[in-house]
Amino acid sequence: MSAVDVPVALLGYGTVGSAVHRLLDEGADEIERSTGHRLRVVRALVRDPARERRHGAPEGLLTDDFALIRDDSDVGLVAEVMGGLEPTGSYVLELLRRGTPVVTANKQLVARSGPELFAAAAEGGVQLRFEASVCAAIPVIKLLRESLVVTNVHRVLGIVNGTTNFVLGEMEAGRGYADALVEAQRLGFAEADPTEDVTGLDAAAKMAILATVAFGTRVPVDWIEVSGIDAVRDEHVAAARALDMRVKLVGEAVLVDDRVGVRVQPAFVDAHHPLAAVEGAFNAVMLQGDAIRELTLEGPGAGGLETASAVVADMVSVLGTGSGGFLSRDPVWRSLERLPAGELPSPHYLRLEVEDRAGVLARLAQELANEGVSVARLVQQPGDGHAVLHVVTHEAPAGRVQAALQAIRALPEARRRAAALPVVSSRGVAELGWA
Ligand code: NAP
Ligand code: HSE
Repeated sequence: MSAVDVPVALLGYGTVGSAVHRLLDEGADEIERSTGHRLRVVRALVRDPARERRHGAPEGLLTDDFALIRDDSDVGLVAEVMGGLEPTGSYVLELLRRGTPVVTANKQLVARSGPELFAAAAEGGVQLRFEASVCAAIPVIKLLRESLVVTNVHRVLGIVNGTTNFVLGEMEAGRGYADALVEAQRLGFAEADPTEDVTGLDAAAKMAILATVAFGTRVPVDWIEVSGIDAVRDEHVAAARALDMRVKLVGEAVLVDDRVGVRVQPAFVDAHHPLAAVEGAFNAVMLQGDAIRELTLEGPGAGGLETASAVVADMVSVLGTGSGGFLSRDPVWRSLERLPAGELPSPHYLRLEVEDRAGVLARLAQELANEGVSVARLVQQPGDGHAVLHVVTHEAPAGRVQAALQAIRALPEARRRAAALPVVSSRGVAELGWA
């Protein structure tokens, strides 16, 4: 039987787009064998078709005119790999409403405009898939929606940004922050605007998508408490090493009493925890649920070919499944409230620099006690007329720790700005040592 010919268009032909083209060409026979469809890239939208490109492009493929793609009724599938919110969002909406299925790698677009996009897909009677928007090559969206649908996942913990994980690893090895970031850009891991990576906005969009899919309720990006690795200093990396921990940018989403809490923050991760072993631009996602207890996925979280593998997998899924596909049926959704950010509990590491004289430690301890924050470990290092205190607390709500920190900063004995980072450990903080 002859294969069904499917002309495909790409919105974007950069790091990911050119790799999608390559994988579709190289995998055409295999895709035909498994789906009966022959995918053929016929057009790719770029800003500047004349620009010299690292990966090259066949004559006549590139265009800067979206209408050529939109109005080509032969195009049966579109991959959006150009990024940004506009004009990208308008293009995707138009395609979906006209009945063209779309797959996308754009986490900001899905996280911020998901409801509108899925409504347009329903209107057009087609699928919108977005596996590549979260953790590149790791098939976590498919797993959550198809394999874990009755598992009642209540916690998602992950390293979901490859660039920052790469940069932090390089910093541990003694390389400078700026130098490591340039290298991440050169390797194709970073966003077009890398401030999205280092300020945590990229990870926040991915955590919004993960929480939405895992908990079956829409989680807007602005519910998420975000801080990035731009606040991480060499002294934090050194203190983490002394505690047998590593500094990682960690995303956490939890369901507590039918309320949703999500945060993205640099954290101290216990060296014995699975997330501590995630190196370079790899990502990992730990899912905790009733039936599965705990499951961890790890794999490439950034890079052209790695991301393209998920884009192509979504294309194959669109061909292999009919109708509107998952996430298009609103009635299965529930509506949950946001858990106030300050109520998210975890142990914390605190670095405090204070005057080294009688009574100061007691005042610090009192401020922590006032907020109900209990100390699990305390190490004091003498400085030049001052003392550096490294404190690891028992589990406490983030808001109470921050309130204690504010009070400590206001003490006349406080020296440099005190800092607090959550600790990720399954060992129990009382077990931790200090090298
Ligand atoms: P990229 O290398 O900068 O490529 C972007 C492409 O889109 C370029 O071909 C660019 O055209 C085109 N483009 C951008 N804005 C356009 C506009 N307004 N009109 C027409 N064309 C436009 O970016 P990328 O790294 O491939 O990333 C693409 C998407 O994949 C983003 O949403 C990103 O978040 C996502 N993603 C990337 C990775 C990764 O590791 N790189 C991983 C997962 C997800 P020109 O070539 O003419 O500049
Ligand atoms: N810039 C992103 C990262 C690409 O570094 O994780 C993958 O989404």
